[in-house]
Amino acid sequence: MAVERTLSIIKPDATRRNLTGKINAVIEEAGLRIVAQKRVALTRAQAEGFYAVHKERSFFGELVDFMISGPVVVQALEGENAVATYREVMGATNPANAEEGTIRKQFAESIEANSVHGSDSLENAAIEIAYFFAQTEIVG
Ligand code: TYD
Repeated sequence: MAVERTLSIIKPDATRRNLTGKINAVIEEAGLRIVAQKRVALTRAQAEGFYAVHKERSFFGELVDFMISGPVVVQALEGENAVATYREVMGATNPANAEEGTIRKQFAESIEANSVHGSDSLENAAIEIAYFFAQTEIVG
């Protein structure tokens, strides 16, 4: 297995409920290291750019409105198989379908307010990490 990096975002529903520390504990217990982290208020343009792949989907406008409704915490996570490991730790997009113990099962409010984002491939992880972090901000 290879050491990888993936991008995580703790979404506004979770920061609003002061869950950053609890979510970070789940991440660390899964063996992932938080090698970069910052709390930011996304601009509309940043959120639209980040989710550009979904721009034709019916939920795009509401998703962007939600992502700028409060602060987010963007993170780079590092570990063995980090992309797939974090997808497992997050759980299914819809919390109703998420496995016990996953972040979304424990904390998500709905399919939209689902507490966390995680990159879905190694290629996208590199793009998404570079969207938020300079190389000098990532300390492995
Ligand atoms: P997606 O990339 O399909 O899910 P994931 O975050 O698990 O990789 O969708 C991106 C986000 O879009 C998802 O986290 C929440 C939002 N979304 C909706 O609001 N409604 C929907 O029906 C879907 C599929 C996604």
